[in-house]
Amino acid sequence: MQPVDIIRRKRDGQALDAAAIDAFVRGATDASWSDAQLAALLMAVLLRGMTAEETRLLTAAMTHSGTVLRVANPPGPVLDKHSTGGVGDKVSLVLAPVVAACGGCVPMMSGRGLGHTGGTIDKLEAVPGLRTTLAPAEIDRVLRAAGCCIASASGQLAPADGRLYALRDMTATIDSVPLITSSILSKKLAEGLDGLVLDVKTGRGAFMQTEAEARELAEALVDIGRRQGLAVEALLTAMDVPLGRAVGNGLELREAIDVLAGGGPADVRELTTVLAARLLCLGRLAADESGARQLVQRALDSGTALERFRAMIAAQGGDPHVTDDPARLPRAPRVARVVASVDGFVCDIDARAIGGAAVQLGAGRTRQTDDVDPAAGVTLLAQVGDRVTAGEPIAELHGRSEASLQRARDVVAAAFRFARHPPPAAALVRGCITPTSSAS
Ligand code: URA
Repeated sequence: MQPVDIIRRKRDGQALDAAAIDAFVRGATDASWSDAQLAALLMAVLLRGMTAEETRLLTAAMTHSGTVLRVANPPGPVLDKHSTGGVGDKVSLVLAPVVAACGGCVPMMSGRGLGHTGGTIDKLEAVPGLRTTLAPAEIDRVLRAAGCCIASASGQLAPADGRLYALRDMTATIDSVPLITSSILSKKLAEGLDGLVLDVKTGRGAFMQTEAEARELAEALVDIGRRQGLAVEALLTAMDVPLGRAVGNGLELREAIDVLAGGGPADVRELTTVLAARLLCLGRLAADESGARQLVQRALDSGTALERFRAMIAAQGGDPHVTDDPARLPRAPRVARVVASVDGFVCDIDARAIGGAAVQLGAGRTRQTDDVDPAAGVTLLAQVGDRVTAGEPIAELHGRSEASLQRARDVVAAAFRFARHPPPAAALVRGCITPTSSAS
């Protein structure tokens, strides 16, 4: 069947069979389909949708478009987590070494930040010398040394996604549940996983802004993951306010180290604990949630997770002493403060606005090819629920130029809302999607 016949079939609302889907993915991988043909089919999928079976076939074909990792003699179940992205979300940096310290093997392939959300790879690269572009043999070596590895999703794993994602970005075809599902799961399945936990964020700082959209995506991810033989669950978590206090690559890395050393903000520690505990249950490293939480807490409080993180940094060529002496991380030449405009309680901090301010300061990129400044970003000195007085510093801005600090100062000041009474506590976890709850 020719590309034009496959495109016409989907355009007319018919389901594609395995041969048609394989031809499309092969066309994306070996460049035998033109950008115009690929983009036309992507738009037809966005408008017409896909059945669960079509999405499963697309996920499988994309997974096998490149190498599928097989970790040599893993020390335990091969586990990973994926987040749909948020502001201040440094959980992956903590979770990978925690799960390794609890007996799992974590070959985490991550991405870079785009827009107002950060990326794990940019955060980790704030460590001087550290490399994230690793060949499969190097990933094996890092896993043997530390039990976890955080590397950038390489061209060898699910290469079809690299071309399709770039085209989707240019053709307004990102927000399609079957396309997002196959894109995320193909990269994760190419890691050769036994278990995966998904953190699907909802709220104004998230990719999926409403809870209904986030739930639809979470259900599709869990359903297709299960159909592909993966032990998988998804948590729906709130992303209305930034997670933790630090937003920006080196600043977030520093906060992740604080959590690994047994401290850090309560929300970061809690979200890491919930997600890691679910993963330990999926990997059968704990019998139940409460036993799993205890294992996670012990790994954080005893320093064993921090040791794994240090070993991972060293094995990836970075300076492992940053874990004891965070002053070795890059520092911005200019720091400015934002102060409270009134007396009262902080009742809201707009995550999207804070993420945008961090990008203006140089911590993020607006185009895939932009460089990021590892030292730039925002530190929240006050969080939701804190009482403040007028003139008290509520945020610190880290940047290079006075002009960028001035622009970010206005945005950050406007992101805070104050009230006379403390706001009610908001739940971090909004729901849990398991294969049974998502089975159709
Ligand atoms: N993240 C991905 O990896 N793929 C998508 O399609 C959307 C978010």
